[in-house]
Amino acid sequence: MKKVAVIHGDGIGPEVIGATLEVLKKVAPGKFEFESVAMGGNAIDKYGVPLPDESLKICQNADATLLGAVGGPKWDNQPPELRPEKGLLGIRSGLKVFANIRPAKIFAPLASACPLRKDIAEKGIDFIIVRELTGGIYFGKHEAFTTPEGERAARDVMEYTEHEIRRIAHVAFRMAMKRRKIVTSIDKANILTVSRLWREVVEDVAKEYPEVKLNHLYVDNASMQLIRIPSEFDVIVTENTFGDILSDEASQIVGSIGMIPSASLGDDNRGLYEPIHGSAPDIAGQDKANPIGTILAGAMMLRYSFDMMKEADAIENAVDDVLKAGLRTPDIFTEGTKLITGSGMRDEIISRL
Ligand code: IPM
Ligand code: MG
Repeated sequence: MKKVAVIHGDGIGPEVIGATLEVLKKVAPGKFEFESVAMGGNAIDKYGVPLPDESLKICQNADATLLGAVGGPKWDNQPPELRPEKGLLGIRSGLKVFANIRPAKIFAPLASACPLRKDIAEKGIDFIIVRELTGGIYFGKHEAFTTPEGERAARDVMEYTEHEIRRIAHVAFRMAMKRRKIVTSIDKANILTVSRLWREVVEDVAKEYPEVKLNHLYVDNASMQLIRIPSEFDVIVTENTFGDILSDEASQIVGSIGMIPSASLGDDNRGLYEPIHGSAPDIAGQDKANPIGTILAGAMMLRYSFDMMKEADAIENAVDDVLKAGLRTPDIFTEGTKLITGSGMRDEIISRL
């Protein structure tokens, strides 16, 4: 029996998580014990903090954690320490999941939803972003202050230690060894001292993987090349903030942010699994949310934390089949396909398992 901590979260979180739990129960009946955990805006409402100690403890003791999405306009004016996002950062650092894996792959049936020119998309798009998740500006010192002249000012510090860079680089190279053996490290080494250290350490780690080709790109150039020649990327490794930004870009390249799952891993195989999208308060409660990103995050959990490859394949194939059948939630709808609801998508996937 695998213990899975489940954070339904806010906005569309409960909808996409609900769908995913049904899928997991269908694909492996009786194999999981789910425990619901409060985190995000709902935890602020109930307990006054975004991540109660008890919630973190349950996640730390579980075999894996599954997370929907947190946040919403209701909590936007909270002080920084009491925002739902703080709970998310707390859970990422509390679980020590420093490696965030975000696959960007074009599903063949969704090729028409790709906004890129046909000749570019046709070359195939299949890359993985390995985003460093527990360092950088996100976890640096944040400060609002007043200058001696009396002007308002603020600073956020970006800091990385060598071992933080080394361990994320290893994750990327190991991943590349199982794929097309190309690592692109993305930084801003023409400006940032952190990036120069990043580059040196990544080059050092690369020596242990002589079969892997290592490229470096500046982040501004990378954002351009990702839409110019996406087929040339295999594994991207980058720091926290750059990875946050580039993974949203990647999601549009492959069709919709609603489609992309992510796995966050640490030193053992107890991961944190979530879609890369947010809580989408504008469509919450309307049965419009695409549950596929979260369902595929569930499949990643089976693959990375539980070694249940057959079941993970089954989920991914079921998703593929539904898309092949032309069924679409609003975010991936194009002319000539059939529009269905979020719960409709859930049912269609379950019926194909
Ligand atoms: C993501 C999200 C989060 C992040 C937000 C919600 C704090 O954008 O997972 O990419 O910035 O990491
Ligand atoms: Mg993001």
